[in-house]
Amino acid sequence: MKITTIGGGYVGLTTSLCFAASGSAVVTCLEANDSLARRLQSGICPLQEPKLDQLLLQCLAKGAIEFTTQAQEAVTDPDYIVIAVGTPETEDGSADLSQLKNASEMIGKYLRKSATIIIKSTIPPGGTRKVAGWIFSATLRPELKVDVVYSPEFLREGSAVDDFLNPTRIVIGCDNTHAAERVASLYKMCHTADTSIIITSPVNAELIKYASNSFLALKVAFVNDLARLCGTIGGDIRTVSRGIGSDPRIGLDFLAAGPGYGGSCLPKDVRAMTAFSREVGVPLSILEQADRSNLEHQRWIARSVSEAVPCQGTISVWGLTFKSNTADLRNSPSIALIKLLSEYGNYHFNIYDPTVHSQQLALLETISHTCFSRPEDTLENANILLLLVSWPEIKAFPHDQIAMLMRGKSVFDLCDAWDIAGPELDGVRFRKLGVGEMGS
Ligand SMILES: NC(=O)c1ccc[n+]([C@@H]2O[C@H](COP(=O)([O-])OP(=O)(O)OC[C@H]3O[C@@H](n4cnc5c(N)ncnc54)[C@H](O)[C@@H]3O)[C@@H](O)[C@H]2O)c1
Repeated sequence: MKITTIGGGYVGLTTSLCFAASGSAVVTCLEANDSLARRLQSGICPLQEPKLDQLLLQCLAKGAIEFTTQAQEAVTDPDYIVIAVGTPETEDGSADLSQLKNASEMIGKYLRKSATIIIKSTIPPGGTRKVAGWIFSATLRPELKVDVVYSPEFLREGSAVDDFLNPTRIVIGCDNTHAAERVASLYKMCHTADTSIIITSPVNAELIKYASNSFLALKVAFVNDLARLCGTIGGDIRTVSRGIGSDPRIGLDFLAAGPGYGGSCLPKDVRAMTAFSREVGVPLSILEQADRSNLEHQRWIARSVSEAVPCQGTISVWGLTFKSNTADLRNSPSIALIKLLSEYGNYHFNIYDPTVHSQQLALLETISHTCFSRPEDTLENANILLLLVSWPEIKAFPHDQIAMLMRGKSVFDLCDAWDIAGPELDGVRFRKLGVGEMGS
């Protein structure tokens, strides 16, 4: 069986390697970025993802995968084509489908035999129909039988391979039962006893993906609202979250207070779902609040921190990625917070993150900053320390040494990294989001 994947990013690369490693398919991964395709073909995995680098080497050694930038060669005669290109947001928040349109037209132009097309990119309702339309309007062979199926991906960065191979659910959106069954059997290596297989219409599948990410964003926004309330009235969000989440109807996941939701999916999917629902005249009023609440939360944190270091100073920031176990900086709450803080004062940022080694971080534009490769080196001239991502290295840092290492005597723990008995240790004030009065 021949599979072509289009896009070699988090979703495309994981999908390609898992199919190639299964032994039932030879995979060609078409990646538009020439340098990325060349690095992948030479065995260099650019993504920091557990298991992905070993899988890449194994699959290359077995000849089960190849990476190319040559569309015609990749798309001419596969049995399945998996589309995993990006669907970023446009200025008005809606999904930018231009990469998807290019990929679809390329399929239409070059495909020479009947095939099943599986869309894994996240798309708004109606997206599957659009892809089919773009393929058919570009094809020179209208007699070919091409089924277009939407099968959203639910993997999480940091555990992409495990999530792909052990999904909680496989959603297959297709109006043609035979095509849906073909796709279900393609995924058979991922079926576990706990996997729900949901075969449904494209529009339901499209809604399931957007609504899942929207619901997760709402959970995070709600718990962060609650954390600010806890901090004001003397509650403890950690206990409150445990109490709420222990109800199986609610669940503990995504109930940890923190610096806001971010990453490559949640913010853009919330905005795209909001924009789509407005466009069709059924605005989702609760979801409209999620984004505002997330931003207000980050502003509130920035205000609280700036009150502790008025006007100017050096702020040590530990953790820059949008969560631990990924090197992905897309829509990172840490970067959002640094940008907000720099509106409040003339600050220099001393940054440590286990995955960020560059001395200059383009995303921070003109903001004054220095990157360090050891957390302790950020502290010498720092007025305050912000803990933003609970990387194992940050959690394990001996916090009893902070008083000795840091010029200032103030720590804001915004990701529940350290368990410290009281608000003070050796003259250092430790403030925790949602515990005691962080803003005071
Ligand atoms: N990253 C995640 O955790 C995740 C999880 C689930 C779903 N998704 C969704 O999956 C999709 C892909 O996400 P990602 O994070 O892998 O994106 P990504 O930006 O990391 O990768 C997309 C890749 O596609 C390539 N590409 C674009 N157009 C192409 C074309 N015409 N031909 C060949 N290659 C092309 C780009 O060069 C890029 O490398 C998005 O819709 C996203 O919302 C992402």
